[in-house]
Amino acid sequence: MKTIADYMTKTLVTIDCEKSVLDALKLMKEKSVSAILVMKDSNTIGIFTERDVLFKVDFSNLEHLPFIKIKELMTGNLKMADINASYINVMETMQKNKIRHMPVVEDGFVKGMISLRDLMNHYNENMENLLEQTVAALSSAVEKRDQYTAGHQERVMQLACAIGKELFLTEKELGGLRMAAVIHDIGKLFIPTDILTKPGKLIEEEMNLIKKHPEKGYEILKGINFPWPLAEIVLQHHEKINGSGYPQGLKDNEIIFEAKIICVADVIEAMATNRPYRPMLGMDKALQEIEKNKNILYDASVVDACVTILKRDKLFWKTDVVPS
Ligand SMILES: [Fe+2]
Repeated sequence: MKTIADYMTKTLVTIDCEKSVLDALKLMKEKSVSAILVMKDSNTIGIFTERDVLFKVDFSNLEHLPFIKIKELMTGNLKMADINASYINVMETMQKNKIRHMPVVEDGFVKGMISLRDLMNHYNENMENLLEQTVAALSSAVEKRDQYTAGHQERVMQLACAIGKELFLTEKELGGLRMAAVIHDIGKLFIPTDILTKPGKLIEEEMNLIKKHPEKGYEILKGINFPWPLAEIVLQHHEKINGSGYPQGLKDNEIIFEAKIICVADVIEAMATNRPYRPMLGMDKALQEIEKNKNILYDASVVDACVTILKRDKLFWKTDVVPS
């Protein structure tokens, strides 16, 4: 569990409460800090922040600045955070009390300062990491089941993200694309391994079972409140723009763009690697397949971007990650 000590700034700047606001502003600029501790004798009696200046100073009369004392504008009623407190607890206390800066104390001595903005930034970063790690764990659960899909989702993710970048998707869209690609086959958890790894042709019932994996994936993910429509993208990754795909037979704009990207990356990866029922067909055949069906099965802009990437970088996946 992270504590406040991991996030506090140790740059402690102090000022005497009798000094003027102008002195405080100069000091803050000089030390590049947004908050300073206000002292009386050797006791901390408040915090003075940039916000105090913005909200409490009358800027129409700047001549008065040297005469306004810090103690008139500081935030008194000081709350302190113990250095060993959990950062989540401190963040909650600050939000509840509408406090933006807090001194951090250890054995009664001020050791640093913590700002709500810093804590929230760390919190958001941690949440994103947590989400990525959870999705990666889900991904490896599918891939552990058979050697043929091991690494498949990861490679599809790499190509899908490269296509997304080539097509100028936003950072947020790329985040969703990455997550969806890395778990697009999660529904295969419901398919018996002997069918997934069966050498030779599948019988119709087996094929129908395999075709259920987008819906199964959707069912696993639909209850999770991701910041992207991951469940829907996973559901649609086998749809084709002419309506010949599955499970819903969606067409053109009915298909989420990210699902169209994963579809093309999936086809390329599957053809460029060995499958249980056939050896790899190779990258040239894979490229022919998507170019032949551009605007028929696959979105034209996605195909163009994919072809550009793979012609530019023939060894898109390093050979040692492609099963031989
Ligand atoms: Fe799939």
